[in-house]
Amino acid sequence: MTRSWMLQDDRQSLLLVSTSEGLPQIVYWGPPIAADEVEVIARATQRDVTGGMLDRNPDLSICPEESASFPGQPGLLARNPQGKPLRPRFRFTEDWFQGTSLSLTYRDEVLGLTYWSEFGLDSATGMVTARAYLEAEELTVVDWFAAPVFPVSEAGTEMIDFAGRWCGEMRTQRVPWSAGIRSREGRTGRTGHENLPLIYLPEAGATNTQGRAEAFHYGWSGGHRMVAEELPDGRRQVQFGHTFQSESAARRRFETATLFACRSDYGLNGCAVVFQRYLRDRVVPWPNPARPRPVHYNCWEAVYFGHSMERLGDIATRAADLGAERFVLDDGWFGRRDNDTSSLGDWWIDRRKWPDGLGPLITHVKKLGMTFGIWFEPEMVNPDSELYRNHRDWALGRTDQVLGRGQMVLDMGREEVRNYLFEAMSGILSEHDIEYVKWDHNRVLPQPDASQVRGTYALIDKLRAAHPEVEFESCASGGGRIDFGILGRMHRIWLSDSNDALERLRIQHEASLLLPLAVSGSHVGPRHSHTSGRVHDIRFRAWVAAQRHMGFEMDPAELTVKEAEVLRDAIAWWKENRDWMTKADILRLDSSDPALVAEAQVAHGGERFVVFAGQAAASSQILPRPLRLAGLEPGARYRVSLRNAADSLPNLSRGSPALKEGPLELSGQYLMGQGVCLPWSFPEHMWVLEGRRI
Ligand code: DGJ
Repeated sequence: MTRSWMLQDDRQSLLLVSTSEGLPQIVYWGPPIAADEVEVIARATQRDVTGGMLDRNPDLSICPEESASFPGQPGLLARNPQGKPLRPRFRFTEDWFQGTSLSLTYRDEVLGLTYWSEFGLDSATGMVTARAYLEAEELTVVDWFAAPVFPVSEAGTEMIDFAGRWCGEMRTQRVPWSAGIRSREGRTGRTGHENLPLIYLPEAGATNTQGRAEAFHYGWSGGHRMVAEELPDGRRQVQFGHTFQSESAARRRFETATLFACRSDYGLNGCAVVFQRYLRDRVVPWPNPARPRPVHYNCWEAVYFGHSMERLGDIATRAADLGAERFVLDDGWFGRRDNDTSSLGDWWIDRRKWPDGLGPLITHVKKLGMTFGIWFEPEMVNPDSELYRNHRDWALGRTDQVLGRGQMVLDMGREEVRNYLFEAMSGILSEHDIEYVKWDHNRVLPQPDASQVRGTYALIDKLRAAHPEVEFESCASGGGRIDFGILGRMHRIWLSDSNDALERLRIQHEASLLLPLAVSGSHVGPRHSHTSGRVHDIRFRAWVAAQRHMGFEMDPAELTVKEAEVLRDAIAWWKENRDWMTKADILRLDSSDPALVAEAQVAHGGERFVVFAGQAAASSQILPRPLRLAGLEPGARYRVSLRNAADSLPNLSRGSPALKEGPLELSGQYLMGQGVCLPWSFPEHMWVLEGRRI
């Protein structure tokens, strides 16, 4: 018997078809199809068979089965505790379907295994979600369990996946498709700088703004495995799941994280926008979605561990004067934390530095009109701590393990560990007027371990339930834990420990393939970057931070009067614009000059936009090339003007491009087809072009 299910809205159809009561295959994913086409499409997608093949092509189902002679990576690799492989053949038992939600249950009676999957289609954003579950009657070991598997387009020649490192997150890599497997696997126990669980699959010729693409993100914080495989018969599949063998014990129930899938007919941006909107509007649990994102001040690069009321009180006064609205006290306030070798785990206030506690600083900060945030690194312990001396067995891994930043990881799978952390953190949050927690995670795990992530999620969930107004930031040496799993519990990402504006320009550009402004923390750093040694003009630093959720974290006393003026102005501009920018789409522009990193942020409704055009290096041609915009209405007219011409024009810009003189009125068709002529600039400079529909 053939069964079919079609998730459908006015933007797309996702059609699943099964024959002979087996697991279904996704046979169509694209623009909407008519209900009466389903039957013929189910037949039309069948491929031929030739010599040297089985007599029928094994299904590329949502969980490809070894038992069906599937010629590639199966969706499930399981065994009994004695090591005997289990090779289920699942048969349909029940379904539940309602237009944009589908749940399918299958069973292998002989092995006592039940598999079910859930699909959802979010019509407002265009996101498809998929998740799989497995229940076993007997204790079972699962080495690999894929979220529902998608066949992907065979019209692409490349895939784009992500590498990175500390202070160098979000490095896109273009890898050619070829026969066999391209696999990415994070084995560090956290999402990782090195292995963002995201892949883009552009069709041949697709750019940021044109062509077809598909993209997938796995929302899990414990490290993932991705398999993109071209089968011997040419079909292609993408599988995402937890890191191989990260379930360390035999269990009876397993589930994948949610796989987020989207497709586009207008370039990579079409997928990026789905991710940005879905994350902002469906995933992040904003305590108050209407509240404008506050301008941050963070003291880390100003004082490091050198805390005192006098110093931080003075910094807070200066920060408020520059426009900060939230003051975040970073590492160094607890235990005897004079450097990074001690005290993680000892979550009580260091009375040597804060003889009267944190109360006086918080009162001062609040009087200045700011709210207060505080840093924790809950999952970690230093061997030099009271916690470790009292509970050595709470640390994960061997006692002779190599430390990371002088620290070990607590076993978050243990309830007593979570209870200790909850009491300590909740105590600090209850006793003080704190509305923000920066939650750090600065070392990799001794081994991948899914229960660690479940434990961490449980602790965050309990803290959020007890303190529903508190917002959380996910930091892991910068961007080491960026995924929709953690962002289902938190409200901001510390995208990178690099406050170097040039690095940030690139990191932010690539990160917009997944993240909206609302969650992407970006700070103006010190004049002399602490992580790159570079010196950048305050104008460049300020406008790069203004591209995302803005903040600053240098010692404000280092600013000259002129620098303070520029920063104050950029912050004021950001406050004026943040409401619409928070809801805008970030569209990467197809710059024909590789030295120019440019994006347009287009308001929901399209009535205004801002273009950030960052000159990352000197161009190879002598003059700027016209920059084509995106996301505008071809038939509408826009008034465009350079926001920062007055203080940014160098003497070497000697000509008269019209934008230098003042605003221009141009059609969307012209702006997107011909592009704007920006004035010449030095490298490491940002043009800010504002536009309004007339
Ligand atoms: C690493 C973070 O990424 C920094 O921003 C800072 O919070 C330090 N940890 C503190 O130890």
